[in-house]
Amino acid sequence: GPVVILAGGLSHERDVSVRSGRRVADALREAGVEVQVHDVDADLLRFLRETEPALVWPVLHGASGEDGSLQDVLALVGVPTVGTGPRRSRQAWSKPVAKAELLQGGISTPDYVTLPQALFRDLGAQTILDMIVERLGLPLVVKPVQGGSALGVTRVDEASQFPRAMVDCFSYGDTALIERAVDGIEVAVSVIDGPDGLEALPAVEIVTSGSYDYDARYNPGPVEYFTPARLDAEASARVADVALRAHEILGLKHLSRTDIILDAEGTPHVLEVNVSPGLTETSLLPQAAAAAGYELPTLYRRIVEHALA
Ligand code: DAL
Ligand code: MG
Repeated sequence: GPVVILAGGLSHERDVSVRSGRRVADALREAGVEVQVHDVDADLLRFLRETEPALVWPVLHGASGEDGSLQDVLALVGVPTVGTGPRRSRQAWSKPVAKAELLQGGISTPDYVTLPQALFRDLGAQTILDMIVERLGLPLVVKPVQGGSALGVTRVDEASQFPRAMVDCFSYGDTALIERAVDGIEVAVSVIDGPDGLEALPAVEIVTSGSYDYDARYNPGPVEYFTPARLDAEASARVADVALRAHEILGLKHLSRTDIILDAEGTPHVLEVNVSPGLTETSLLPQAAAAAGYELPTLYRRIVEHALA
């Protein structure tokens, strides 16, 4: 059967996934691979039974594609799959779980607390803020414990912004992750199964005048990317090493992207790891691949071949 690209699905990042899926399908077709794109719906099992794919590549973003449940279904069906398996997807998708594992593996990640909505409601914003600021200081970053594309993420520079940030965050889930904001150079390092095994692609540096939010990610606008990042050889090697180690510690497969802040002392702090990095025309992995001299058709075909091997 064909290679099936799963895209779309029901998540806040549905549109992003549709765009990523289309790009991957186009590139694979260009590489001579027979591809079928399927929008994930309740019909998935029947579709898979009828299509008998040689391989499934879930190019899904957000809960429906990254939280491990779809990977459970694919494992049950027994079809070869591109990407991280169910258990490891579930762990990586939960930011606090992934952070705890990274810390245990000796990788730095910003200090944090998690806060369930019920507790926030019971104790009230002011009490909570006081406790958190005492522990972590300001500025802070508030994010849903699970999520992508910066949806529900707010930087809090002043106490007055905190209640609004929490309300925004809770519209995406019932637990917030509150992190100390680390200032520095923001880079994203993609890891792929390359010809010689795991390979870190050149770091992409992200420079924004505002914040690197949803609109900034998917529209041409006030974001500047430097690929490769403007780092010296030593710093480049350090962020590449961190991304490779994060990929391995978290048991990720075939492709991932690790988002990192390099602080003023040159220490890399991992913000998060993505099991299904965006693959749209403005996304970071494709930019990094181009900087490494890879043609996307060749690169994606190689990922497919690795997943089939
Ligand atoms: N969650 C988006 C797709 C990304 O990480 O690129
Ligand atoms: Mg993410």
